[in-house]
Amino acid sequence: MHKLLTDLGSNVAIIGTQWGDEGKGKLVDAISGNFDVVCRFSGGANAGHTIVVDGTQFIFHLLPSGMLHPQTIGVVGNGTVVELPALMKEIEDLNKSGLTDVGNRIKISLRAHILMGYHKKIDAELERRKGDQKIGTTGRGIGPAYTDKISRMGIRCEDLLDRDLLKEKIERNCAFHGKNLGISLDPQEEIEALESVREQVKPLLCDSRKFLYDQMQAGKKILFEGAQGHQLDVDHGTYPFVTSSPVSTGGICTGLGVPPQKITGVIGIAKAYCTRVGSGPFPSELDNELGEQIRKQGAEFGATTGRPRRCGWFDAVATRTSLQTAGVDAINLTKLDVLSGLKELKVVTKYTLDGRELFVVPTTRKANEKLEKEMQTFPGWDEPLSGIHRFEDLPENAKQYVLALEKLVGVPIRAIGTGPDRNDLLFRE
Ligand code: GDP
Ligand code: IMO
Ligand code: MG
Repeated sequence: MHKLLTDLGSNVAIIGTQWGDEGKGKLVDAISGNFDVVCRFSGGANAGHTIVVDGTQFIFHLLPSGMLHPQTIGVVGNGTVVELPALMKEIEDLNKSGLTDVGNRIKISLRAHILMGYHKKIDAELERRKGDQKIGTTGRGIGPAYTDKISRMGIRCEDLLDRDLLKEKIERNCAFHGKNLGISLDPQEEIEALESVREQVKPLLCDSRKFLYDQMQAGKKILFEGAQGHQLDVDHGTYPFVTSSPVSTGGICTGLGVPPQKITGVIGIAKAYCTRVGSGPFPSELDNELGEQIRKQGAEFGATTGRPRRCGWFDAVATRTSLQTAGVDAINLTKLDVLSGLKELKVVTKYTLDGRELFVVPTTRKANEKLEKEMQTFPGWDEPLSGIHRFEDLPENAKQYVLALEKLVGVPIRAIGTGPDRNDLLFRE
């Protein structure tokens, strides 16, 4: 048993606690060997989860990040939105990279919504109309796909099984959205895109809720892989600068049909500093040379869109709220190595607005302009951290920084990332 997993039980969730890109994929990969099934429960190919094994990089968008382990079964749950041709390509690419039978180890929920080509076009058009208020989406059609789902006009994977109904729905949706937005959408193109993968997809479809129920009854171990981060949650994040799905622990129950008491442990992933891609409030942002330096040292460019990530200090207020809401038992603090060489480090420890303490990132522009932040300063360290596998061997100031963060957020930091590779991880008892 992996040390990090002690006391977390058999079904563990991994949740991003900041603005995404905390390094979820790396941990999922690192511990997947301890689980039988790895599941995605929300989001779509807006996610970009990077894994590095012996210098070779893999980026997962919709496939669960545990697939590099030859025994792992991957589930793409009902709460996700799936661009089927892109998913098939992801499987094909992984097979080409030397793994075989990835397709035989993937199960897609019959109830997952299909993300259509028109969702991406609508995404682009809505962003264009917002002008300088744009969200800065990944352009993957996520918002429009979830909008259709909630409007009860979405197309689900099960609709692939009825050609006539599928055609009718596609034509209806293209006409509706095309007219509404004054853009041209081609239903024939959409039908052909799905036809081109229909036979490949059909054998992967299943009642994933029942599959997981049976697996749990048989004592199998399940890992739930979060996408995005808590501050991007459609309810708990910095709305409207969020994604369109629930990204926290609650999303597992709805996005997979798993009851809450079956989630036996939650690991929160928190970067040792903060990053954000796209627009929206970011109280600890360093919009200056230091931010540039961190971006460079941390290679902070989007895994999905390649956009430079905004960088800033660790925000203990935002992270603490995420940890509380997600019910995090243990933290994996990632990318501590990136901070080597900085003279001093700062952490946001308190927000005040109009004389009152705030416990969340405010969502309105006005409130963010007025927000007062208290910061604590810590001395930095020069030594690189690569190759360090024991907490005791970290530079003294790095240890003190970790212990201070742990105290500020109130949850134990049980794993620390010291580099991008699968093995660049150390565990604390
Ligand atoms: P995710 O979306 O949460 O899975 O994170 P991303 O893969 O989008 O971004 C995290 C980036 O940091 C990736 O390039 C990882 O390879 C890299 N990474 C993860 N953990 C560490 C770490 O501890 N140190 C360093 N230097 N890089 C890391
Ligand atoms: P992972 O899983 C970082 C951000 C986008 C944008 C907002 C809405 O790799 O951590 P969307 O395309 O979802 O409608 O965009 O959310 N965003 C992410 N930022 N990491 C992600 O995923 C993200 N997924 C969405 O940049 O600000
Ligand atoms: Mg990412």
